[in-house]
Amino acid sequence: MGKNKLRKWSEMDSWDFVIQPGFNEIFGKDFRLKGKWKSEFFRNGNPLVLELGCGKGEYTTGLAMMYPEKNFVGIDIKGARMWRGARTAHDHSLKNVGFLRTRIEFIRSFFGEGEVDELWITFPDPQMKRRREKKRLTSPIFLNSYRTFLAPGGIVHLKTDSKPLFDYTIKVIEHNSLKINFATDNLYESDYSGEILAIKTHYEKLFLLKGFPITYIQFEVNNEVRFELLEEKNPEQ
Ligand SMILES: C[S@@+](CC[C@H](N)C(=O)[O-])C[C@H]1O[C@@H](n2cnc3c(N)ncnc32)[C@H](O)[C@@H]1O
Repeated sequence: MGKNKLRKWSEMDSWDFVIQPGFNEIFGKDFRLKGKWKSEFFRNGNPLVLELGCGKGEYTTGLAMMYPEKNFVGIDIKGARMWRGARTAHDHSLKNVGFLRTRIEFIRSFFGEGEVDELWITFPDPQMKRRREKKRLTSPIFLNSYRTFLAPGGIVHLKTDSKPLFDYTIKVIEHNSLKINFATDNLYESDYSGEILAIKTHYEKLFLLKGFPITYIQFEVNNEVRFELLEEKNPEQ
């Protein structure tokens, strides 16, 4: 391993706001911070916002700077990308940021009922091939997982260059009668003027350079509804 990579790993290990749980800490059990992120990790009662597949964590750190009265946790499986966001949080002494290195499939082991107020899903792998519905981060499988820890009326933001993923997500939302707060298939030509326009992720910049329109949906998850797959009849198989 190169010197640079070793330095990054050792920095990640030394920062107490970066959590890299071992398999034995979550396999068949809840992680020690489940239900306790506000009281034991952030030590305040502020709202908690997650960024899923955060990569370099531009939303996690960018929103944390804009909203010091909220807490943010960036989640990704890849440590090298996460290091960039963690380094930014360290350099700016951000006290309202955490990073969690894990697979999103395990997320229910980490967050307790009603613990999370908002979710950002930023440029996920679209997974639009046939029989990949279960892998999409806005599929009913994942929504069922998110509803276990989202507070009532919890908000999900999806930003993607993938029009098929945008269309699929609108279908899931409509099928389940969820409330859409805002949706556009061309964000930078829309009348949306919220904070999201100020932050652009690594992947977003690459897609903008290629001239792809950026889509955005903000919707509310009704945590009393159990969501069903649209494309596959037997979800358990
Ligand atoms: C296309 S990149 C987008 C990264 C960042 N959000 C951006 O916009 O630049 C997708 C990210 O999701 C992460 N990812 C994909 N599947 C994941 C999973 N099942 N669990 C955790 N992270 C995942 C990848 O490691 C990668 O960093």
